[in-house]
Amino acid sequence: MPVIEVVLGDITREDVDAIVTAANESLLGGGGVDGAIHRAAGPRLAQAGAALAPCAAGDAVATPAFDLNPPVRHVIHTVGPVWEGGDYGEADILTSCYRRSLEVADEVGAHRVAFPAIATGVYGFPPARAATIAISTIRATPTDVEHVRLVAFDDETYDLLTAAAQA
Ligand code: APR
Repeated sequence: MPVIEVVLGDITREDVDAIVTAANESLLGGGGVDGAIHRAAGPRLAQAGAALAPCAAGDAVATPAFDLNPPVRHVIHTVGPVWEGGDYGEADILTSCYRRSLEVADEVGAHRVAFPAIATGVYGFPPARAATIAISTIRATPTDVEHVRLVAFDDETYDLLTAAAQA
């Protein structure tokens, strides 16, 4: 089971082998964390994503990290659920995002991986429930990943992830 660390900051500045982006199925980039990662990685990220698209909600695919600073070598694109009230399988899809991202990290040999708070921004997933899903899924998924950094972009998300990690 990987060491899980909760940090506050910008995921594009993380010192890890792979960073996970909260994408949409086109993998062409967007706003939020996806926009920040695409801006930092450069236009080749969208070109590589387009070649692999569409990515279904709950799935994950890896591309090179292009212009992102070393040691980041991979971007793992995962597509979260759009929150529609909780009765449409959103929790299962978010669980799958974390599980599939770890599986893809194993496939590319990434041992240090940073995750954003997937689906809790534009997609509207309640952040407290998302934090619990993130921690429990990472703890339950067999993986060779040794270190997971959960990167919060705001204090509320940081507090929720920290509380979930200590529960
Ligand atoms: N570093 C870390 N976290 C960030 C950063 C950043 N630079 N920028 C934003 N975040 C955080 C947000 O504050 C939120 O907590 O990432 C979390 C996820 O929010 P979104 O980026 O809006 O992702 P999501 O809710 O999954 O929506 C995905 O938005 O950007 C588009 O293309 C994307 O269509 C997709 C949708």
